[in-house]
Amino acid sequence: MFKGKNVITADDFTAAEIVEIIEYAQEIQKSPNHFSHLCDGMILGTLFFEPSTRTRLSFEAAMLRLGGQCLGFSQAQSSSAAKGESLWDTVKTVSQYADIITMRHPQEGAAKLAAEKSDCPIINAGDGGHQHPTQMLTDVLTIHNEKGGLSGQVIGLCGDLKFGRTVHSFLKAMSLFPDNRFVLISPEELRVPRNIRQGFLKPKGIDYIEVERLEEVIGDLDMLCMTRVQKERFFNEADYVRLKDSYILDKKKMRRAKEDMVVLHPLPRVNEIAVEVDEDPRAVYFKQAKNGMYVRMSLIAKILGVDHAGH
Ligand code: NCD
Repeated sequence: MFKGKNVITADDFTAAEIVEIIEYAQEIQKSPNHFSHLCDGMILGTLFFEPSTRTRLSFEAAMLRLGGQCLGFSQAQSSSAAKGESLWDTVKTVSQYADIITMRHPQEGAAKLAAEKSDCPIINAGDGGHQHPTQMLTDVLTIHNEKGGLSGQVIGLCGDLKFGRTVHSFLKAMSLFPDNRFVLISPEELRVPRNIRQGFLKPKGIDYIEVERLEEVIGDLDMLCMTRVQKERFFNEADYVRLKDSYILDKKKMRRAKEDMVVLHPLPRVNEIAVEVDEDPRAVYFKQAKNGMYVRMSLIAKILGVDHAGH
């Protein structure tokens, strides 16, 4: 079903496909060693034109734990892009060496263009402020593990909902599951983009509200997905400085939250979650980072068509 597919946006998945990927990730999570030869002799190319810690390293860890190998670059300056090579030529070339490629690029739509030129499947690891589908799979696996299901949740999304690509992919995916309600918490300037509100949430009849104050709604939430204000996407520094500390989740705010509310964050965190929250059992963002590796193992194995049962 997934063999040879590109993964460019969250729209590339149906609800059933998301469930299939996370269920296989859960199998891998239970006994990872049983899956350690699925990708023997295969190569993952990692083309990172933008900084990354978790996404790149969890992709690499995923491929290594499947028995495969990795090659690539982690900054545009160390590739021929610095000599003026086009993205198309870079991707075409690396697709001669690799069986599957994951790519992060500052331009929205870059992954889609890359997929047109590539001779192997492309997984979008983030294209500008647009989409980040594998972070979405990471978030969904974490929710399933923590909540035992994916529907009937009151979901808070807080911070930079405008430029946060993780938010855009997450909203699309969690809207596929019944009876989820979204509480969108952001300053006016960082609201979910109009094209998502008017072009998706409203016409699909998704239940959502928009608010500015976290304190007012935190007590209603089953989960709170915090996000970083995306400094690199701002047009001017002054706006960033004014908005960067709009929300800081601390122990005091956590006291108002339900006992079983979970806190997610794709990371990196800057100031939006105080370090004191880390010891709260409801803070699951480091578990979430680990889940990112399992879900990428699942996805890579499925795209390469080697997703047999573990042995
Ligand atoms: C996110 C990203 O790159 O969009 N990080 C990640 O992939 N874990 C979130 C962010 O950078 O704020």
